[in-house]
Amino acid sequence: MVFFQWTDDMRVGNGLIDQDHLELVTLVNELYEAARAGKSESQIAITLQKLFTYTQEHFQREELLMEHIHYSEIAEHKEQHQKLIDQVLVLQNALSRGRGEVASSTAELLRYWLLHHIQRTDKKLATAIQLAGLPDL
Ligand SMILES: [Fe+2]
Repeated sequence: MVFFQWTDDMRVGNGLIDQDHLELVTLVNELYEAARAGKSESQIAITLQKLFTYTQEHFQREELLMEHIHYSEIAEHKEQHQKLIDQVLVLQNALSRGRGEVASSTAELLRYWLLHHIQRTDKKLATAIQLAGLPDL
């Protein structure tokens, strides 16, 4: 069974954001699999770095969209992004100190966080983007 299953109700209805989320789900699964398969710490670190970089790029894309439409909830939404970045950094530091088991904890944190953030926060943003009349990509 796949660790993090993409389901249709995770779609927010914005092509760009949905595409990013799908890629994030794939990367979380990759991290989980690397940890489960007992890959070396350096391989896990590479996978985690890939996921972390993509997460940051995705947040930047969402934040640019928010700025573009003068989104009223931009501060709260950005704060949620920043909190996740801070949490992942803590786990990434633990990993670099040789604590290999944090890789699966990171995958679990990201699965939980993404599920909730997409449903509650990103769906609201996608609706606002639609209302602002931005063309879907
Ligand atoms: Fe978001």
